[in-house]
Amino acid sequence: MRSLIDILDLTTEEIDELIATAEDIIANPADYADCCRGKKLATLFYEPSTRTRLSFEAAMIELGGSVIGFSEAQSSSAAKGESIADTARTISCYADIIAMRHPKEGAPYVASLNASIPVINAGDGGHNHPTQTLTDLLTIKREKGAFGGITVGLCGDLKFGRTVHSLISAMSRYDGVRFVLISPEELALPSYIKRDVLEKKGIPYKQTSSLEEAMPELDILYMTRVQRERFFNEEDYLRLKDSYILDTKKLEGAKADLCIMHPLPRVNEIAVSVDRDPRACYFKQVLNGKYIRMALIRKLLKEAGTI
Ligand code: NCD
Repeated sequence: MRSLIDILDLTTEEIDELIATAEDIIANPADYADCCRGKKLATLFYEPSTRTRLSFEAAMIELGGSVIGFSEAQSSSAAKGESIADTARTISCYADIIAMRHPKEGAPYVASLNASIPVINAGDGGHNHPTQTLTDLLTIKREKGAFGGITVGLCGDLKFGRTVHSLISAMSRYDGVRFVLISPEELALPSYIKRDVLEKKGIPYKQTSSLEEAMPELDILYMTRVQRERFFNEEDYLRLKDSYILDTKKLEGAKADLCIMHPLPRVNEIAVSVDRDPRACYFKQVLNGKYIRMALIRKLLKEAGTI
């Protein structure tokens, strides 16, 4: 059974196809309005979410399907001690596809080993978030036209930010990508990603703690929230939470065609005044997330022979 646990489960050709389908859905939504009629998506969310869960649900409804699920662990049998494996077997009796978010790294993978329907990782702890990456890639494609030959600045919590980890994995497969990693030392990108992805593939990157210094060379600026829920103590979070606040002044040295992205939710990292700047793309990203999830649900259900 084909699931999506890591963004590298998809080839670059498959990602191109998903992007092409999403663009076709945007242009011709009526052609897709019935393709999942009678099918059910189960959203199993053991961690808070607004965009990911609701975009999955909106996606399935716009494909003509329906949705069941829970949005907090406490309202499911996890609160009674049920294992992920048993939950996955159970949901396979009710639904055709699962989207799962969990605070533990690897939980959606365990679910995929036990489910008889496709499982989509909707975020596992500080590890991965492949459907946010598909969203980000669709946004970059629509804003920049291609993935190669661009300098991507990733700013904020690169240690715990799962969207950053998946995006680096995905973009490292394209030629001519450079990364600028902008973070305080304590929130630097984990060394396993630097070693196993960037260095192994010879991808040019540099690390800095200064957003202002990095700004002029960036084509994409990917801001992130400091991930409070992954900290071991509140004091460290309070000290680091406002490390970077993007405002109109900091954008003075930026390229005219910079694309400012953020997976959201935003806390303080981007001043609201930046929202009026035509380079702000984060709400476009939100909408792209629904279309690419429509393309993904359709693909996995087709491969499973369900539709
Ligand atoms: C991200 C996540 O859950 O990792 N949110 C999202 O899915 N759009 C980013 C975050 O929570 O900071």
